Amino acid sequence: MLHARNIIKHYPGADRPAVNALDLDLAEGEFLSILGKSGSGKSTLLGVLSSLVLPDAGQVIYKGLDICSCSEKERNHLRATEFAVVFQQHHLMPYLTALENVLLPFMGGLTPIRAEERRKAGALLERVGLGGKERSLPGKLSGGEQQRVAIARALAKNAQVIFADEPTGSLDSATGGAIMELLRELNREGVSIVMVTHNPGYAEQSHRVLTMTDGRF
Ligand SMILES: Nc1ncnc2c1ncn2[C@@H]1O[C@H](COP(=O)(O)OP(=O)(O)OP(=O)(O)O)[C@@H](O)[C@H]1O
Ligand SMILES: [Mg+2]
Repeated sequence: MLHARNIIKHYPGADRPAVNALDLDLAEGEFLSILGKSGSGKSTLLGVLSSLVLPDAGQVIYKGLDICSCSEKERNHLRATEFAVVFQQHHLMPYLTALENVLLPFMGGLTPIRAEERRKAGALLERVGLGGKERSLPGKLSGGEQQRVAIARALAKNAQVIFADEPTGSLDSATGGAIMELLRELNREGVSIVMVTHNPGYAEQSHRVLTMTDGRF
């Protein structure tokens, strides 16, 4: 469903490209893991695949649309509907409650949040094991709990692809294992996943593992 061809990303001033002429195909329903040393280009690649970073050259085709050459409006639409990104630094809004963070995909429009959306967000928090924490601010949640809010937010918009950059990176092994279990469950339900991790044990639980070195697999 996602096809990347000859992706090159060279940050200004860097002596070599962060991503160097790389090809990648992601099948629908696939759970792909990307391993690699620090600085090997994993986050940059994830950024390109999720349309957050524009490459210097190459194509990323998602469902027939070249997300590198389409308009910013089309990219925004894609990120609002089909793609979800879960970062290690989760990017929750600190002044919004857990429930409001899950509702973020529905905010910003002109229409007010509907009761049905609020119910759905509550049910999603329940599902990721955060029932009862709806009104907590991110600062009052543990790292794993914040990560789960970010995953619930990805679910709120029924994302087709989840891009996760070290979603278990800052977590102890029990909490990290729970996040992995959640991702695998979503994958079984049909969500495609691209996950960057430093943990070979977690990578092994996916369908396919690619290792990056100096911007290449
Ligand atoms: N915004 C940026 N500007 C300039 N150089 C960057 C930028 N982001 C990353 N780089 C460089 O690009 C290379 C790849 O970085 P990237 O963050 O993709 O690596 P990574 O594999 O995700 O590393 P880590 O495991 O530490 O997260 C590194 O050499 C990094 O210093
Ligand atoms: Mg990284």
